[in-house]
Amino acid sequence: MEPIYLDHNATTPVDPAVVEAMLPFLNEGYGNASSVHMFGRDAKVALEQARETIAGVINCEPSELYFTSGGTESDNIAVLGTAYQYRKKKTHLVGGATEHHAVIEPAEHLHHHEGFGLDLLPVDSEGFASATELAKLITDHTCLVSIMHGNNETGSVQDIAALTAVTRERGVLFHTDAVQSIGKVEVDVKQLGVDMLSLTGHKIYGPKGSGALFIRQGVKIAPLFYGGAHEKKRRPGTENVAGIVGLAKALEIAEKQRESDFTRLSELADYFIEKITTAVPDIYLNSPRTRRIPQTINLSFPGAEGESIILSLDLKGVAASSGSACTSGATEPSHVLTAMGVPLERGQAAVRFSMGRVTTREHMDYVIEVLPPIIERLRAMSPTYRQSQA
Ligand SMILES: Cc1ncc(COP(=O)(O)O)c(C=O)c1O
Repeated sequence: MEPIYLDHNATTPVDPAVVEAMLPFLNEGYGNASSVHMFGRDAKVALEQARETIAGVINCEPSELYFTSGGTESDNIAVLGTAYQYRKKKTHLVGGATEHHAVIEPAEHLHHHEGFGLDLLPVDSEGFASATELAKLITDHTCLVSIMHGNNETGSVQDIAALTAVTRERGVLFHTDAVQSIGKVEVDVKQLGVDMLSLTGHKIYGPKGSGALFIRQGVKIAPLFYGGAHEKKRRPGTENVAGIVGLAKALEIAEKQRESDFTRLSELADYFIEKITTAVPDIYLNSPRTRRIPQTINLSFPGAEGESIILSLDLKGVAASSGSACTSGATEPSHVLTAMGVPLERGQAAVRFSMGRVTTREHMDYVIEVLPPIIERLRAMSPTYRQSQA
């Protein structure tokens, strides 16, 4: 059998239609979008068409979208840019306890090195945050709340509209990282009520190194870079025209098939969860069954280390991930599962299967066939697990 890729939350293959849309801008359409001649004008037209396409999907004005190199950069601009804009008046931030490192690390930098207060909004056992708890954390000094939309490790989808109702009332800016949710569940910046929103291309069958940040009209943030008037000076640097065209095409395709993909992958997720929990005793689902990105299935197999399971699956031709790919290699359990109250031994035994467009029932059946003996073997090698079962 061909290798089975179940790590679509780490990245996705580029859709052939996206490659096709990008190619002219890597070949004859190589102009710099800032140049006034015909080459530049063609590039500029493509750039603005891409902006319109993306704006149409997330329901904002094209002028509210700023192109970046991806999710990490968008998150950093939102967190650091807001903090630097407000630092003389407001020096407190609230982040989600289950944020991606692209939000947590700039927030921690501000906390440890730049005198900002930082509070993390707790989540329940399914990864959901509460608006009541958020209201308790906001102070008169809070300049930004940053809570992700869809979680990369568990697939939990936050009720962002309920959270932004709180920040709006208190006059605090709200940023959400929608890197994993966009193209998979509905993302409408007006319905969500957010002031800023990050997205990236490579999680939705677009190119790596191409993303965007929505900044609502009227929101002021300080730039992190200087050196040009690109993106209204908020993100100077010659635009990656081919990458941006690819991002827009990828989002357009994802949006078109979003509902059918959601239905198909929800059914496949439920099928897999049911079969695997029957085939392997003593396993835990860390992902929620509702309010989820269905392609993300996070399971714990106590008695077997997540990393060992991943390596064994790899030998069988299955690519999955333990926790988030960006922190893979770290031995401590993921901060996401820890924040959800998952005990240490279960956190260390977690595996994330992230399905995609090409994932079929046959693929999942193969995992259901090869995984139980792997878990049995690893558990047999764990004296603590054997003792706990005795
Ligand atoms: C939730 C989330 N935010 C941000 C990022 C970073 O995005 P990028 O890889 O485009 O920098 C990722 C990627 O893993 C992610 O899953």
